Amino acid sequence: MIKSTERFQFFDQQPEIADFCQDVIEGLSAPEPYILPKYFYDETGSKLFEAICGTDEYYPTRTEVSIIRDNIDDIVNNLGKACLLIEPGSGDSYKVRLLLDALRPIAYLPIDISRRYLQDEAQKLAAEFTWLNVHAVCADFTGKLKLPYHVESSSKVAFFPGSTIGNFLPEQAVSVLEEIKNMVGKDGGLLIGVDLKKDSAILNAAYNDKKGLTAQFNMNLLLRINRELVADFKLDGFKHHAFFNEEESRIEMHLCSLQDQQVKIDGHVFKFKKDQSILTEYSHKYSIRHFQELAKKAGFEGVKTWVDDDELFSVHYLKVR
Ligand code: AVI
Repeated sequence: MIKSTERFQFFDQQPEIADFCQDVIEGLSAPEPYILPKYFYDETGSKLFEAICGTDEYYPTRTEVSIIRDNIDDIVNNLGKACLLIEPGSGDSYKVRLLLDALRPIAYLPIDISRRYLQDEAQKLAAEFTWLNVHAVCADFTGKLKLPYHVESSSKVAFFPGSTIGNFLPEQAVSVLEEIKNMVGKDGGLLIGVDLKKDSAILNAAYNDKKGLTAQFNMNLLLRINRELVADFKLDGFKHHAFFNEEESRIEMHLCSLQDQQVKIDGHVFKFKKDQSILTEYSHKYSIRHFQELAKKAGFEGVKTWVDDDELFSVHYLKVR
């Protein structure tokens, strides 16, 4: 039972928890086998992702943080104070901390599918910002989502940092943006972080860090499948493979089979040829113009874009058209 106080409220929309086993079997049975990237984030995977964000090569996190810090007054002027601030897929709510003091929203609504994590993080935030109303919503933001209450008086702004939008195929990204548009409604806004297309050497290094953390993050999927499903992936039978696909303007992460082999998962047998790969993630990189076109398709119009001096990353403020 999650206790609500005046400032902290918890709305459980009881999202359907995806079936890990079924998704893995379906993905590995496809003509081009894949594992959905949402399964990266068990406890170990989440810790590894945090560590990746601190590597020299992975520029997106520190660059986005510095763009927000350097432009906070302008960002707040554009968003308007006293909005209702919504964060779909809020995770550890680390980046929203950069906005809260300056923005002073009437309430912060983090939305996350992971009940325990959401509860812990939202309560921490309510304790840290003693003036802030935190109304946490446990739901899957990529499905049809209704805000838990109706606020007419204030404008609604969504915050979607980290270039998570890049992990969707462009047509899926339009649907995600449409969902966000429905959430914020007429006159609503969206502050979104989008990684930019750049020299492939920088991109390839970011997903092949020298410490091998991205490789561990990728391989952790196999460990997780072995641990949580009855499976026998041999860890030395696969290797991390990440590269920039210039034509599709995306990083692709794969787990590549080092030999002909077979793997048993929950009684199903999967055969892999040497060099055959399992796709684990796409991370699309956009130009500012290309992303704005995508946002337009979803019904948003660009208001302002902030970039760092090296043009590595972009933060866009968009309004519902
Ligand atoms: C969460 N997401 C935006 C990260 C990215 O860059 O696409 C995930 C990641 N994968 C490997 N490194 C980081």
